[in-house]
Amino acid sequence: MKIQVFGKVLRQEKVGDKVYCLTLKAPEIARAAGPGQFIQVRCSNSLQPLLRKPFSLHEIDEEAGTISLLYEVKGEGSKLLAKLRKQDKVDLVGPLGNGFNLLKQGKAILVGGGMGIAPLLPLAARFKQLGLEFITILGFNDGKRVCRIEAFQKFSPVILTTLDGSQGEKGLVTEPLKRELETGSYSMIYACGPEGMLKAVAELAEAKEVECQVSLEAYMACGFGACLGCACQLKNPIETTYARVCTEGPVFKSREVIWHEG
Ligand code: FES
Repeated sequence: MKIQVFGKVLRQEKVGDKVYCLTLKAPEIARAAGPGQFIQVRCSNSLQPLLRKPFSLHEIDEEAGTISLLYEVKGEGSKLLAKLRKQDKVDLVGPLGNGFNLLKQGKAILVGGGMGIAPLLPLAARFKQLGLEFITILGFNDGKRVCRIEAFQKFSPVILTTLDGSQGEKGLVTEPLKRELETGSYSMIYACGPEGMLKAVAELAEAKEVECQVSLEAYMACGFGACLGCACQLKNPIETTYARVCTEGPVFKSREVIWHEG
């Protein structure tokens, strides 16, 4: 069920180098949304930029009627978003996409890279609520980009990695993931991040025969299945199959995805 509403800005916090967390009052969306879903945001009241931008839901508080978005300032849309102040109104459409399929029992690993950590926080909150056992592995390029670790630590133990080793373990998220898969017994991996990372996580999951769900990023225009601009290719032994990341995704079983990176 997608809803168009004007969300009211409650908070705009700088949580890292060029990274912000925008909290909005949007009770209709908070009520309808689940972990892994996203919203389309009109970043300005003018026609520039023309298209809405997709953002993963980073926090969903049904009781308070609030949602938050985690974003890095890098394009025109995110620059405009960073200018929003308390009480400003923002045109939102959502929740969109399928979201994560929640594990009912067993143990899970959440793996996030860069801004791909965003949709994993509501998943962690839901698992904590359900009493499910899980750990979280978060990776960043460098210490300056590390953010939201304490928010994740409220829900589970967190293993932090940075490529330059300035915080946490030096290296990629796949190192601690490999270690965990060798020593623990896990039923599901949930991953979101750059395609190269997702591909590596998917390969590890397959080698260790652990189910894995990945949240994909794609260029999106309409965000609700009409333009076909977000198509990704899925494995099918008979014929090429395409799926719309905005509608059939953004979450897919990792073994169904055809990877292009690396
Ligand atoms: Fe238009 Fe997905 S963004 S179909």
